[in-house]
Amino acid sequence: MELPHSPACDRNKEVIAAALKEWVTEDMKSFLEVGFGTGQHAYHFAPLFPHLTYHAADQESYHPILNLRMNTIEKPSNLEGPFLFYGNQEKDEIEHNLPLESYDLIFSANTLHIMSWHEGLLTLGKMASLLDSGGVLLLYGPFTFEGNFTSDSNALFDQSLKGRDPRMGIRPYEKVREKLQSHGLDEKKILTMPANNNILAFQKT
Ligand SMILES: C[S@@+](CC[C@H](N)C(=O)[O-])C[C@H]1O[C@@H](n2cnc3c(N)ncnc32)[C@H](O)[C@@H]1O
Repeated sequence: MELPHSPACDRNKEVIAAALKEWVTEDMKSFLEVGFGTGQHAYHFAPLFPHLTYHAADQESYHPILNLRMNTIEKPSNLEGPFLFYGNQEKDEIEHNLPLESYDLIFSANTLHIMSWHEGLLTLGKMASLLDSGGVLLLYGPFTFEGNFTSDSNALFDQSLKGRDPRMGIRPYEKVREKLQSHGLDEKKILTMPANNNILAFQKT
């Protein structure tokens, strides 16, 4: 099996890393990535924060990808996984085997528009409940704001997602915020990123 590679991860890893550095503090100990995909982000970010234990989680079908990466390229010493995190719409629950009950920082990139909104709500709720008091949640990807796409290309991307699967689609920032606020998270910042993406930063109070 060839090591899966995402050109987008190569393009965005430096700017996301710079944003992460704004939020990672010396007293944090644990970092959870939900939906690691190819594992490229985990391999780039984990060594930047050696004082953190970096847990990489995704649905089970992606685990061979991270295992292959770990068998091919020496893994960062603080990177652990793959762990299971799966928003199961049929069972109406998140299935997971995360070893910690709470995390200081949770990061997820390009996940909410790929899963159904029902799975998205499950995922947001679980990420909120897995955050330690004072912990930070960072969501990277495309979002709409007040019903508007941030670019024509994002509107086309939304159409192509819905063509692939009508349950997919770019999510409204306001709905994400509403769900997270109902779980005790406060909006801290909306960062504008290259390629019409954003990072939404929330904190558990
Ligand atoms: C487009 S990939 C993004 C991967 C990586 N974070 C990146 O930025 O390249 C979408 C990710 O969402 C995950 N995902 C999709 N549906 C999911 C679900 N129901 N529960 C958990 N993860 C899901 C996929 O397994 C995949 O890792």
